Amino acid sequence: MKLLTGMANQRLAQAVADYLDAPLTKAVVKHFPDSEVFVTIDENVRGQDVFVIQSSAYPANDHLMQLLVCIDALQRASAKRITAVMPYFGYGRQDRKTGGRTPISAKLVANMITAAKTDRVLTMDLHAGQIQGFFDVPVDNLYAAPVIEEDIKRNYNSRELMIVSPDVGGVVRARFLAERLGCEIAIVDKRRPRPGEAEVMNIIGDVDGRICVLVDDIVDSGGTLCNAAEALLKEGAEQVSAYISHGVLAAGSKDAVARIEASNLSELVITDTIEQPDHVLAAKKFREISVAPLIGEAIRRIANEESVSKLFD
Ligand code: R5P
Repeated sequence: MKLLTGMANQRLAQAVADYLDAPLTKAVVKHFPDSEVFVTIDENVRGQDVFVIQSSAYPANDHLMQLLVCIDALQRASAKRITAVMPYFGYGRQDRKTGGRTPISAKLVANMITAAKTDRVLTMDLHAGQIQGFFDVPVDNLYAAPVIEEDIKRNYNSRELMIVSPDVGGVVRARFLAERLGCEIAIVDKRRPRPGEAEVMNIIGDVDGRICVLVDDIVDSGGTLCNAAEALLKEGAEQVSAYISHGVLAAGSKDAVARIEASNLSELVITDTIEQPDHVLAAKKFREISVAPLIGEAIRRIANEESVSKLFD
C-alpha cells in the first residue's frame, strides 16, 4: 500500500500515515508560474494499491486539480488500484439544479474524478448521501459520528443532553448520532413565509433546560449555527454548542470566526477533514478533533479487503 498527498491537508495525511505506520510516498506537487499543477512521484508505484489523500477544500479548484493530476500520474505509472481519499468532498452542496440554467457541479466533479481513472473513492459525511450514485466506481462514505460521539461523551455527559439538527435537511445525521448516544433530538425548522420577509425559526422538540448540541456537516459563514443557537436559547435551552464535520471556513473565515466568537454558542468543535489556518485554531470557541484514526482504519480495511461498514456498527 502507498499513501500519497497533495497540498490540501498535509497535517491530516501525516496523521493517517502515522496511524498506519506507513510513510507518505515521496512526491513533488508544484505550480508553474501560470498556476498550472505539476506532479512528480519519486517512488516506484507499479502494481501498488495507492491512496491519494486530497480534499477539494479551499482553494477548491486548485486542490481538485492537484487530485486529478496525481491520479493521472499514478495511472500512467501503472499503479494497480487508485483510491481518491477525499475527507471533504467539495462541490457537494451543488448536488441538484437550484433553478433554470444552473449546473449540477457535484456530478461534474464526480465525472472528472472517474474519468481520471480512479478505481474507488473514500470520503466522509457527504453533503447528501446520494452523491455516491454520481460516481460509477465504489464510494465509501464514512461518518465522523463515532469520533464526535466519543468527544460528546467526554465533554457533555449529561442527562439533559439533546442533539439538535439546525435544519430539516440534517435530521438523519442528527438522529444517527442521537441513537448512538441514547438521547433525544430536536429540529430547527427555518422558513421564510414570503420572499423578502424575515426567516421564522420554529423549534420542534422541548429544549427547555436542555444542554443542546447542534450537529451539521458544514460550517461556512456560521449563520446557520449562530441563528439556531439564538433560537434554542430563546426557547429555554441551558447551553448550546456545536459539532461540525467540515469547517469550510477558509475563504471568508475571518468574518465567520468573528461571528461565532461573538455568538451565543459556547463551543464549536470541528474535525480536521479540512486544514484550518492558525487564526481558526487559536480562536477561543473553536476546538478541533481528529478523524485521522477513522480514515486510517478505513484505508487499512480497504487495502485488506475487509468490511468498512463494520466501523459504524
Ligand atoms: C446546508 O445545507 C449545510 O448543511 C450547512 O447547514 C450550511 O452549509 C452551513 O452554512 P453557513 O455556515 O454559511 O450557514
